[in-house]
Amino acid sequence: MTNSTELLYVISGEDFASAGEASTSFKNELKKLNVSPEVIRRASIAMYEGEINMVIHAYGGTARVTVDDKDIKIVLADNGPGIEDVEKAMQAGYSTATDGIRDLGFGAGMGLPNMKKYSDEMTIETHEGEGTTVTMIVHREPEVS
Ligand SMILES: Nc1ncnc2c1ncn2[C@@H]1O[C@H](COP(=O)(O)OP(=O)(O)O)[C@@H](O)[C@H]1O
Ligand SMILES: [Mg+2]
Repeated sequence: MTNSTELLYVISGEDFASAGEASTSFKNELKKLNVSPEVIRRASIAMYEGEINMVIHAYGGTARVTVDDKDIKIVLADNGPGIEDVEKAMQAGYSTATDGIRDLGFGAGMGLPNMKKYSDEMTIETHEGEGTTVTMIVHREPEVS
């Protein structure tokens, strides 16, 4: 039998001051689960960027995390506006963030590229006007190459 831990975070879209709290809590849980520091680093960056995206682009959402012996799986789901052009959104530096959001220090357009970079697998399901679900998997052991 393999051990599996489930974590659920509800991310508020109203409160920019609390943006990043779920990622901090997630990081602490991974430490408790003895995930290696390098994997914690990668998974935490991916989670943080996804959390911030739900706050600044989608009125908040949920993060469902499953940690087992092999993988960390993060499912970020929101009921926001959806991503119009995913290919464009994936480009480094592309952002639809307003000046107001940029003044708060967000909107550099590096979130999705870094989520892709720091996860081993990433899929985006999005429907205009309905929402977006981003699923990321981070392996706990590096691939042998
Ligand atoms: N959850 C989401 N809902 C709607 N649009 C999103 C979401 N995540 C990302 N996007 C879109 O993709 C673009 C690029 O995202 P990202 O690379 O994280 O850059 P940034 O968040 O800095 O704008 C965003 O500007 C936004 O238009
Ligand atoms: Mg972002």
